[in-house]
Amino acid sequence: MKDLVNNSINWFNNYCNSFGTISDQQQLNFGIKTEHSKRVAENAFNLATKLQWQEEDIQIAFLAGLLHDVGRFSQLLEYNTFNDEQSVDHAALSIKVLREEKTLESFGDGISEIVFAAIQNHNKFNIVSTLKGRELMHARLIRDADKLDILKVLSEYYIKRNGQANHTLTWELPKGLSVSHDAAREVLAGKMVSKKNVVSEMDVKIMQLSWVFDLNYKPTFEFLSKSRYFEAIYSTLPKNDLIIEIYRKIKVYTENRILQKQDAKMYSTSNQ
Ligand SMILES: [Fe+2]
Repeated sequence: MKDLVNNSINWFNNYCNSFGTISDQQQLNFGIKTEHSKRVAENAFNLATKLQWQEEDIQIAFLAGLLHDVGRFSQLLEYNTFNDEQSVDHAALSIKVLREEKTLESFGDGISEIVFAAIQNHNKFNIVSTLKGRELMHARLIRDADKLDILKVLSEYYIKRNGQANHTLTWELPKGLSVSHDAAREVLAGKMVSKKNVVSEMDVKIMQLSWVFDLNYKPTFEFLSKSRYFEAIYSTLPKNDLIIEIYRKIKVYTENRILQKQDAKMYSTSNQ
């Protein structure tokens, strides 16, 4: 299994460098996605190890992490955007690339189907309700691993920000003076904020805090607590009663999930 995973790492590295002449901007974006994929693979590996999964599942978690965004390269080349709504579902595109390239063929159908299910579900608002067993277990893990890295990148961006806006992170929305009513309602109800309720940059940050309600595994909450990503995002928000209340809710939820028995959620058949 490890040899096969090493072959996939080699394939990934070659694939990232296989696009010939590209612009400096594309090179920069390719580099961002390559590094993100490697960190998500590492996160997935570490979480699966902490969860004491079997060796094969730890390797599958790593693999799904490394390959989950592989469609981003052709998405950018073909559509010049990472916005799925303006182009294609990049998860479906990742699976298409992996099938065409036969990247996972040597793992056999059982393992490649788990990886595909995890990839397919990594960027959706919810995991599809029909997913069960190992596929569900891996879909949940990749979502955690992916969100941890996005939160790392975002919190660093918010903290270091020096007037240079990055519109792929802020969605080109107005800064906003207060949290929108609908975004506040969702987060205070313990739900992820839906995109339709995000109308300002401040709402984007609240939505990112609300991702905590979509996380699955205890080691993810422990990592989140140590990393202080939420503190970093909170530190860039104005301190009014509503924002303090939202932040407190996020903190209490995180602490409770750390105190809960390991994997209470993992074995349930429902998603939420
Ligand atoms: Fe993705």
